[in-house]
Amino acid sequence: MTASRTVLVTGGAGFIGSNFIRHLLARYDYHIINLDKLTYAGNLDNLRDVEDDPRYRFVQGDVCDAAVVTELMNEASAVVNFAAESHVDRSIEDAGVFIQTQVYGAFVLLEAARQAPSLDRFLHISTDEVYGHSIGDQRFTEEDPFRPRSPYAAAKAGGELQCHAFGETYGLPIVVARPANNIGPYQYPEKAIPLFVTNALDDEPLPLYGEGLQVRDRLFVDDHCEALDLLLHSGEIGEAYNISAGNERANTEVAETILEMLEKPKSLIRFVEDRPGHDQRYAMSSRKLEALGWSPRHDYEAAMEKTVAWYRDHREWWEKIKSGEYREYYERMYGQRLAESKPFES
Ligand code: NAD
Ligand code: DAU
Repeated sequence: MTASRTVLVTGGAGFIGSNFIRHLLARYDYHIINLDKLTYAGNLDNLRDVEDDPRYRFVQGDVCDAAVVTELMNEASAVVNFAAESHVDRSIEDAGVFIQTQVYGAFVLLEAARQAPSLDRFLHISTDEVYGHSIGDQRFTEEDPFRPRSPYAAAKAGGELQCHAFGETYGLPIVVARPANNIGPYQYPEKAIPLFVTNALDDEPLPLYGEGLQVRDRLFVDDHCEALDLLLHSGEIGEAYNISAGNERANTEVAETILEMLEKPKSLIRFVEDRPGHDQRYAMSSRKLEALGWSPRHDYEAAMEKTVAWYRDHREWWEKIKSGEYREYYERMYGQRLAESKPFES
C-alpha cells in the first residue's frame, strides 16, 4: 500500500479497533475513517490521544445504514470490519442485535464494497469461536468446519460466510482473520480479564464460571494488531487466517495470576453458576499466518503483566465505565450468582 490511502475502520471505538487505529497511525501515512455506532462498548476515550490527528476522522453511524456506509466506502481504498456485538453472555440474553450487526451489517458493507470505485481490500475480523470448542488435543486449522455453539459465534459465522460468498460471486478482495481471545488496554470490563483485574483492584470477588476449567488462548492485542497489519498488506485474497498466540490457560490459572500480580488473596475467587453452553477450549494453529512472517511477541506472562499494569495505572478509564449502564448489567449477570457462589479452596 502506498501513502495517502484511506482505510475505513468499522467499530474503531471498541477495544481492538481503537488499538488497531493507533497502530496504523503510528506506522503509515494513511487516512483513517472510524465508523462506529457508539454502542455501550464504543468509547471515544479509547482514542483521545489521536482524535486531533488530521489523518483521523470519526463518524458516528451504524454499519447497517446503507447510506452512510456507501458514502464512506466510496472514499476508501481498504476496509477493516471490526464492528460487532462482542460479548457471548449478552448474546445469550438477547441475540437479535448480534444478528443485526454481525450478519446484516456485514451484508450492507459488502454491498457497498461491491460498488466502491477504488477498494482493493476488505479485511473482515471473524473469531476462533466459529469452529466451536475443541475437544481433547484438537487444534483447529483454517480447513476445519464451522460449528459455532453460542448465538454470538453463530452470528459471527454468518457474517464471515457472506464475506466468502461475496468474494466468490463478485470477486471482492476479501481476507478474513480468525483471532483468539485478545487481552490488553481498553477492553470493556465485562470481559473476563478486565473484569477480574478491576474487581481485584477494588477487593471485589472474581466470579469464575463453573469450575473455572475452561481454556482460552490469550493473544496480546498489540500482537493481534501486527497480524492484522500483515493481512491488510500481504494476506492472500480469498483466504482466512487463524491468529493464535499459543498462550492457552484455564480460567482459574488466569485468575490466580492476576491475584498474584496484584498481591491480592486467592479468597477473592468465587465459583458461580456456569455460562449456558460454555465452550470448553479454543485452540488453533497459526501456521498459515506464520508462513507470511508473523509470530506473537508476548508469551502468557508478558501479555498478562502488561495488561494488569495498564488497568492498575488507568483507574480513571474503567471507573467511568463501571459507574454507568455497567452497574445494572453487573447486578443482572452476577447478583444472584455471587449470592449462591462457592469459595476457592487451594
Ligand atoms: P468491542 O465490543 O470492544 O467493540 C465493538 C465496537 O463495534 C464498539 O466500538 C461498538 O460501538 C461498535 N459497533 C457495534 N455495533 C455497531 C454497528 N452496528 N455499527 C457500527 N459500530 C458498531 O469488541 P472487540 O473486542 O474490540 O472486538 C472487535 C472485533 O473483533 C469483533 O468483530 C469481535 O467479534 C472480534 N473478535 C474479538 C476478540 C476479542 O477477544 N475481543 C477475539 C476474536 C474476534
Ligand atoms: O476467543 C475469541 C472470543 O473471545 C471473541 O470472539 C469474543 O468477542 C470475546 O468476547 C471472547 O469471548 P469469550 O467468551 O472467550 O470471552 P470472555 O471474556 O467472556 O470469557 C473468557 C472465559 O472466562 C470464558 O471461558 C468464560 C469465563 N468467564 C467469563 C466471565 C465474563 C468467567 O469465568 N467469568 C466471567 O465473569
